[in-house]
Amino acid sequence: MARYARITGTGSSLPPRRLSNADMVNELASRGLETSNEWIVERTGIQARHFADAGTFASDLGTQAAQHAMEAAGITAADVDLLIVATSTPDMVFPSTATIVQRKLGITNGCPAFDMQAVCSGFIYALTVADAMIRAGTVRHALVIGAEVFSRILDFNDRTTCVLFGDGAGAVVLSASDTPGIVATDMHADGRHLDILCVPGHVSGGQVTGEPLLRMDGQAVFKLAVGVLEETARAVLAKADRTAADIDWLIPHQANIRIMNSTARKLKLPMDKVIVTVDQHGNTSAASIPLALDHGVRSGRVQRGQTLLLEGVGGGFTWGAVLVDF
Ligand code: UT7
Repeated sequence: MARYARITGTGSSLPPRRLSNADMVNELASRGLETSNEWIVERTGIQARHFADAGTFASDLGTQAAQHAMEAAGITAADVDLLIVATSTPDMVFPSTATIVQRKLGITNGCPAFDMQAVCSGFIYALTVADAMIRAGTVRHALVIGAEVFSRILDFNDRTTCVLFGDGAGAVVLSASDTPGIVATDMHADGRHLDILCVPGHVSGGQVTGEPLLRMDGQAVFKLAVGVLEETARAVLAKADRTAADIDWLIPHQANIRIMNSTARKLKLPMDKVIVTVDQHGNTSAASIPLALDHGVRSGRVQRGQTLLLEGVGGGFTWGAVLVDF
């Protein structure tokens, strides 16, 4: 019998400290920089974001999101056969944040745990790998987590980027099943565009060499993003022999409401079929899709039996989509 992967539980976590746009206006003013609630809302749709306190790491948020997802799926630490954490803001250079989460969750069964680095597409990449490992028959329950503390790599003297991002985590339990589940996946990268969104520093000789803060050419990223998000959505639908009319919920990476509007328009989907959390969370990179999915589920909008199109795009450049019968 064919083997598939189903999402059996979702969870998320946000650090309690919430900053409104007014808070960001004050923060930037203290540095002699000008921004406004109007600019941020009009250009991005963002009204607020959450920032972790200094002692909170990606592994803390990821662990909490995973606990909620495991509770929802009805599994315990002993049931987890695979743990992947998608993150660009790991706790340490090494070991992986995934092994730190594994320890915090009390998973002692020796299951593989590793990080996925594909920036804002990280969760889509991780879900695709977990789906393949479940279908190959080696894994029964996978924990797939997106966890970020982007506030750590923001340059608060750069108004063009620091107002855009936030911290948080989302997680799913993916379990083996006789029926899909994940219907189709689509995953891409093009390293020619790596310079337009990067944190170009590295550790060398006990020091950080180069720029350890986020740098982005916003307009170039915007242009690429709207193109590839339409492409990957159409590609994943074609692989499953479905059309956009079959989608109950589009759950895209939450970077900018204008990018989401554009994708919805191109797919001829009304915005009331799009889960939007960018207004309250900002861009949480690899965490944004599972965070939005969990908010959709827990608000009662996303329901069993519905078809979900998850899609992301980010630094690298990376992009991809996963079509899910939930
Ligand atoms: O997660 C990975 C994917 N990331 C993304 O998808 C981000 C993609 N890019 C974007 O979302 C948009 O390009 C931004 C939101 C980053 C910028 O929006 P934009 O409409 O492309 O603005 P812009 O960069 O063309 O800047 C317009 C103006 C500039 O002023 P001038 O040169 O026209 O006088 C900026 O200096 O807005 C100014 N500006 C600001 N003004 C007030 C830039 N940042 C701010 C700010 N407050 N925070």
